[in-house]
Amino acid sequence: MLTFNQVDKYAKHHHILKGISLEIASGEAIGIVGPNGAGKSTFLKLAASVLFPDHGQIHFQGEPYIKSLKTLRQHIGYIPQNIALFEELSVKDQLTFWKKAAKKKGSRVFIDEMIHVLGLDQVMSKKVRELSGGWKRKVNVATGLLHDPDIILLDEPTAGMDLAAKHDLLKWLNQLHQHGKTILIISHDWNVINRLCNRILIFQDGQLRFDGRTEDVQAFNSTLREETDQELKKILAEQNL
Ligand SMILES: Nc1ncnc2c1ncn2[C@@H]1O[C@H](COP(=O)(O)OP(=O)(O)OP(=O)(O)O)[C@@H](O)[C@H]1O
Ligand SMILES: [Mg+2]
Repeated sequence: MLTFNQVDKYAKHHHILKGISLEIASGEAIGIVGPNGAGKSTFLKLAASVLFPDHGQIHFQGEPYIKSLKTLRQHIGYIPQNIALFEELSVKDQLTFWKKAAKKKGSRVFIDEMIHVLGLDQVMSKKVRELSGGWKRKVNVATGLLHDPDIILLDEPTAGMDLAAKHDLLKWLNQLHQHGKTILIISHDWNVINRLCNRILIFQDGQLRFDGRTEDVQAFNSTLREETDQELKKILAEQNL
């Protein structure tokens, strides 16, 4: 459905992503991990068509994605790493604003269910600036999904969330995945990745070092060398791999 073919991305002279090739099928739940600065957010921004490749191609349903941007953006919900909300608006007004701005409308049932599962009904009348960081994250997620997208791209959505909030969000994402949505999620939290994803991408230094099933990460880890891959080994050790 979404295909990356030898994609490179530069920022000034910095080579941020190096020859990324992969294919994402409809209905997959993909976890993206790797050290800080590895290129994870840049990869997700390319998938969301917020950024474009400097070399290589991205295709959406067989078409160069640049040609199908309008359709692509109706299908995609992108939740950025940095929270983008109007601080002075109430949660209710915030959601109304983004609902009006969306290119496609999610059904009332879908939106009500999302609000309920995320527990946002408790904070509807509060202004965003009055909310804690974790609640802001939940509202941030909700605003990006109001149009009921088929492909959901999340950049560290659980950062700063307490266990209960994390649980609510994962419950909602699992529900969406079971209904056939495609999910790509960046997280430093293996619990999040393990509860949701059946495929893992490991980025390091702009390269896709691993692309495979969760159960094959262990075999990949055993191929890493202590002297050259200490950083990755440390990350995988958290997983008891
Ligand atoms: N606009 C930019 N200008 C210059 N350098 C950039 C720009 N955007 C990203 N970079 C650099 O590219 C590299 C990859 O950044 P990216 O945000 O994709 O990493 P990341 O894997 O998401 O890291 P983190 O886990 O810290 O969020 C970093 O070294 C970053 O400093
Ligand atoms: Mg990032």
